[in-house]
Amino acid sequence: MSGQADIAIIGVGVMGSNLALNMAEQGATVALYDLDVEKTRKLASENFPGKLIATADLNELVAAVRAPRPIIMLAPAGKIVDELIGSLMPLIEKGDILIDSGNSDFHDTQRRTREAEAAGAAFLGIGISGGAEGARHGPAMMAGGSRGVWDRVAPVFEKVAAKYNGFPCAAWLGSDGAGHFVKAAHNGIEYALMQMIAECYGIMRDGAGMSAPEIGEVFAEWNKGALDCYLVDISAKALKAVDKETGKPTVDIILDRAGQKGTGLWTAVEAQQLGVPVTTLEGALIGRSLSARRDQRLGLERLYGPAPHKIMDESLDLKTMLREALIAGKIIAYSQGLALIDAASKANDWNVNLVEVAKVWRAGCIIRSRLLGQMATALELERVTGGSAMPLIMREPFIGMMKTADPAFRGTVATAAVYGLPVPALSAALNWFDLARTGRSTANMIQAQRDFFGSHGFERTDQEGTGFHGDWA
Ligand code: 6PG
Repeated sequence: MSGQADIAIIGVGVMGSNLALNMAEQGATVALYDLDVEKTRKLASENFPGKLIATADLNELVAAVRAPRPIIMLAPAGKIVDELIGSLMPLIEKGDILIDSGNSDFHDTQRRTREAEAAGAAFLGIGISGGAEGARHGPAMMAGGSRGVWDRVAPVFEKVAAKYNGFPCAAWLGSDGAGHFVKAAHNGIEYALMQMIAECYGIMRDGAGMSAPEIGEVFAEWNKGALDCYLVDISAKALKAVDKETGKPTVDIILDRAGQKGTGLWTAVEAQQLGVPVTTLEGALIGRSLSARRDQRLGLERLYGPAPHKIMDESLDLKTMLREALIAGKIIAYSQGLALIDAASKANDWNVNLVEVAKVWRAGCIIRSRLLGQMATALELERVTGGSAMPLIMREPFIGMMKTADPAFRGTVATAAVYGLPVPALSAALNWFDLARTGRSTANMIQAQRDFFGSHGFERTDQEGTGFHGDWA
């Protein structure tokens, strides 16, 4: 039996409810199901009459949608998604499409795609970014799975997606886990950008003694130029917000302990497996992990004294220096994230088009920024000219931008080190930049040590071949 709804959404939490409202507003009829049946009924009865259909169980949900049914699952990543799929499988018909739009681990998506297809169902893993606001008014959507299956649901996703100059920020990026991997890499970049913004905030707060609203002003100013991006924009706004209870800036009453749901960590682990250095993400993860160890931080502060000190060098143009450092750090974070996607794409035979990725990220998602527009153009240009897959950092206009930012970038990291202002992501970006362009590295010393204690052998600079040994005795 088949109902009149165009699509189903399971899970009407923050993302699910807003996506449902977005779809209804765009003209789709959406059947809804959530464990919280009352909340689902309320959502359907208070919005877009006739467009949202609340159902009380999965049977009812499946019956409410016209076959072939696209069924979007918005559940917390992990076991719950498997259980949900297990419950849906006996209810759906051939041709129905299960769509996981949560932040699932791409390995799970690869397995679920195989299992669903073996059971005769279609499966898509579509990463969605943009938070509540994005889901409601236009998120970015990164799809993985069979191209033919995506083509069947693309019109509805393209309709609700964010638009960049009319271009919908929803695209198919490759088979099985490609969409969820690109979303994870997006989150990796998101972690890195958030951390680097927080580091600039910390230098201004602890190094220059600036107040939250004063720092907010600086971010608002940055947001008008090359640093124009969603995260700098919301940081400026957050710094100006006032806590109603105390009258203090809201950021000043927020405990300095950052949470994480796992995507950043998965991305870093995967990057290590693939041998791709994503140092800015790793720096951001270190920042979050140490933030969580508050008691230890307080104990060590009592033991050694606080690390941060006021910056005494009055000749520094701190705001300009930080701005340039953040530009360089951002370019490196995006470069590392795109390089990671490229490596994962090759390892998994996804054939992900990096131009499409950069284009999809230009609007709707958390890492949207002016720089991404330039990145998409630079990547596209190379495809047009048939160039090799050069890392982003080797292309104009980024070469010019990195050269301009260079003195301020290292000035920032050096100043931070002198005055005890922690910058794990910015320093990791700078170290990557320096190491990545060092023609003669220090790895010969590593090879000498490996050969000394383990006879692991080395290559020589003056002869072809491998397996040479030193006369260490
Ligand atoms: C997005 C965000 C979102 C993210 C959460 C939680 O693109 O909309 O990336 O999907 O997963 O904001 O992230 P953490 O809890 O890991 O910080």
